[in-house]
Amino acid sequence: MTESFDAVDVITTKRDRHELSDDQIRWVIDAYTRGVVADEQMSSLAMAVLLNGMTRREIATWTAAMIASGERMDFSALSRPTADKHSTGGVGDKITLPLAPLVAVFGVAVPQLSGRGLGHTGGTLDKLESVAGWQAALSNEAMMRQLEDVGAVICAAGSGLAPADKKLYALRDVTGTVEAIPLIASSIMSKKIAEGTGALVLDVKVGSGAFMKNREDATELARTMVDLGTDAGVNTVALLTDMSVPLGLTAGNALEVRESVEVLAGGGPADVVELTVRLAEEMLDAAGRGGQDVAAALKDGRAMDAWKAMISAQGGDPDAPLPTARETQEVRATASGVLSGLDAYAVGVAAWRLGAGRARKEDPVQAGAGIEIHAKPGDEVREGDALLTLHTDTPERFERAVAALDGGITIAPAGTSVERPPIVIDRIA
Ligand code: URA
Repeated sequence: MTESFDAVDVITTKRDRHELSDDQIRWVIDAYTRGVVADEQMSSLAMAVLLNGMTRREIATWTAAMIASGERMDFSALSRPTADKHSTGGVGDKITLPLAPLVAVFGVAVPQLSGRGLGHTGGTLDKLESVAGWQAALSNEAMMRQLEDVGAVICAAGSGLAPADKKLYALRDVTGTVEAIPLIASSIMSKKIAEGTGALVLDVKVGSGAFMKNREDATELARTMVDLGTDAGVNTVALLTDMSVPLGLTAGNALEVRESVEVLAGGGPADVVELTVRLAEEMLDAAGRGGQDVAAALKDGRAMDAWKAMISAQGGDPDAPLPTARETQEVRATASGVLSGLDAYAVGVAAWRLGAGRARKEDPVQAGAGIEIHAKPGDEVREGDALLTLHTDTPERFERAVAALDGGITIAPAGTSVERPPIVIDRIA
């Protein structure tokens, strides 16, 4: 096959801060997927994009080319509208678990294609796999059936969706090019648009435990993704939400399932409930079913019924006891006063080191490993109080987990007023 472009010309165009043409972009994505553009050439182009950026047109064409590299799902045969949520990832972010069944209660189908954790942020599939019998892999037909019957599916994305992204994301991971906003936006949105959801709510996390450490970058990422979704006909909105402190009181797979079930039973930590309800309201609005009393469905058992139906439909036993780790160790307050900081990144790395996360894609995770949090910023603490309980099956991990927390917990003198940022910082539509 004669190739329409030369990879080096495409790379130097971006290196020299010129715009790539639509044809250049379509060719380079297709040729990379076919193996004609080599990994070293694509990584050089990704670095040029990271350094020099892309225009809105370039990002839209890049996203469309990644979608065109694979299949597109179609939910138009369903009797209900669809809405999905994507979080850019954080520590203790278990919101998908209560959110998907909660939204399904109101007649909106939630096709939630999720991933596994890598690094300090957890993955929804890893969390759900701590439920006895639950299966992440579903055929497209089984997914459609479950969406029609139950209304909510959380499952692994098949390999047919945006294969160009799969290859490019793995390359970015090892070439220092993950952080390019045009590449993050096109990576996330190519999968969401190919998935075929009618409405999409993006939860863009900001803070130490998130990809985006500051509000300016998070706003730019959110704006870029909302524009891509809207241009592709998906009703898209983004919330910027706080990730400077872990969400809720747990980080780790089975621990987070336990907390999600507490939320579905009408209890649970206030920040998890607040964000779950707010995202559900946004999803229902975006799907044309707004104006409902979402919180009531957590209190009266309807969301719990939908959760049990969703878990059972994928082979899980929602009533089976969750796995627990073999060993625990407390982290205690070194002084009396007010907890003034509990750094999300430090807690995420500690949970990861305890065995809740993986260093390489193929590594196993421990279902019971993770961290229980007993105090959040603003709480009064006394010297010797347990602030955290660390859980693992392999106690030799405690030392490195405790080291990860060094500097991540701060205590101010009694009486100090500690301001926590709001959970929802901004909304971008
Ligand atoms: N998640 C994705 O799917 N892609 C990125 O590039 C970053 C986060």
